[in-house]
Amino acid sequence: MDRRLKSWPQPVAALLATAMSLAAAAEAVPDAAVVRFNAICATCHEGECSGRLSFDSGAAAARNHVERHAGPSDASLLRQLYAILRHTKENCHQYPLTNPPQARSEWTAEDIAPWRDTHFGTYFIPLGELGTGQRRLEFEFDGPATGSARLADERMDTAAEERFSRGSEPAMVLTAVAGMRYYLHLQTEAVLQQLRIR
Ligand code: HEC
Repeated sequence: MDRRLKSWPQPVAALLATAMSLAAAAEAVPDAAVVRFNAICATCHEGECSGRLSFDSGAAAARNHVERHAGPSDASLLRQLYAILRHTKENCHQYPLTNPPQARSEWTAEDIAPWRDTHFGTYFIPLGELGTGQRRLEFEFDGPATGSARLADERMDTAAEERFSRGSEPAMVLTAVAGMRYYLHLQTEAVLQQLRIR
């Protein structure tokens, strides 16, 4: 039991403990935390669908580890990152977004901006459903871009991968499946100014 509750009579302490864990569970996870998770945590933890976390003592036990990787963060961001990892491990599914963007075929710099991590500079863009069949993603950067792009589906499986090199037109193709949502991971030093999906 939480140390703060030790001084309370048993039944009251139990009630308080329930209220506190409900409050923690109800804490909304902002989309920026999901972007941060995908910027860094997912590079090692994606595709780990091994079920529950093994640290029974919860976020506190993993705190040092999470803090070391998280980039600039505070207690609530650390809790949120932990909650996202728990969700992805238990459900083997992308974390549900608070404000999922509309699926669209033309993404402007303004549409893209919220999905760039403020610290790591990587992108995690929830593209939504892409219909059925072959799709081509065309990227327009603010200059020559090197780096990599990867499309993940709702189950965090890789649907397509591409490396960008100077001198080649940055684009990638995938075969979209009906009813599946796709998520674009993009790692490059350049700024993405437009994305077209054909
Ligand atoms: C460089 C790779 C790497 C990065 C980046 C990374 N982790 Fe980990 N993490 C590991 C490894 C390896 C373990 C131990 C094996 C395991 O449980 O997956 C671990 C364990 C954990 C655990 C305990 C797992 C359990 O079952 O109890 C948590 C929680 C965790 N990481 C959260 C995070 C979060 C949140 C981030 C992002 C801020 C992050 N990690 C970034 C590699 C990484």
